[in-house]
Amino acid sequence: MRKPVIAGNWKMYKTIAESVETALALKPLVANANHCEVVIAPVFTALKTVADRLEGSNVRVSAQDCSTETEHGAHTGEVAADMLKDAGATYAIVGHSERRQFYCETDESVSRKTRAALAANLSVIVCVGEMLEQREAGDAEQVVSQQLRGGLGGLTATDLPRIIVAYEPVWAIGTGRTATPEQAQEMHAFIRRVFREEHSNEAAQDLRILYGGSVKPDNIAGLMSQEDIDGALVGGASLKADSFAAIVNYNR
Ligand code: PGA
Repeated sequence: MRKPVIAGNWKMYKTIAESVETALALKPLVANANHCEVVIAPVFTALKTVADRLEGSNVRVSAQDCSTETEHGAHTGEVAADMLKDAGATYAIVGHSERRQFYCETDESVSRKTRAALAANLSVIVCVGEMLEQREAGDAEQVVSQQLRGGLGGLTATDLPRIIVAYEPVWAIGTGRTATPEQAQEMHAFIRRVFREEHSNEAAQDLRILYGGSVKPDNIAGLMSQEDIDGALVGGASLKADSFAAIVNYNR
């Protein structure tokens, strides 16, 4: 059985005080959510404070990115994966489409960041997903397959349990336009097939694949009812404790 993961990506929102306020409001609302792993990803500056305030709860903290570099050194502006771990992170999100689109993220940097995060003992949420033009041209599977093979090539069987894939069609992020549960399911099944080819049947069966893109309290149950959807990466609807809690506590 794959344990679902519901993760909130807070992007570049919330000061430290606002992050703590939302995290503390969320904590009791999801305290009984044993059916899934609950994760929130605040901005770097709020990570340590939020992680400290959530200690002993069932809510884990994720970084939104990490450096490709593992050696501490002259890399102005970068934060190494082990520093994120030191600040209380359990997960790191890598390869989010906003980083691919606006911050020069490539499959190669995704691969290096994934390895860096694994080396620091973090679980990694690796994001993949096609743009609208690519879907309309019939290239969605090819794009996603390339991102998976480029970003996750060369991982070993011991690395794989800490890899989580998030399928986020770029046209559904922040647009209010969700993929239908059937469209998402189709791509999730495809991702699992790629994993089977690249790794093993067992690794593919155990892989958690999250859907992301305009997930809301009213569409989560339909998405989660699909066989290959093992959770969600939530942006906008994770910023308020009550709406994120409603997603975590979806109708099962
Ligand atoms: P959204 O963002 O839920 O606001 O569409 C999802 C994401 O970017 O991870």
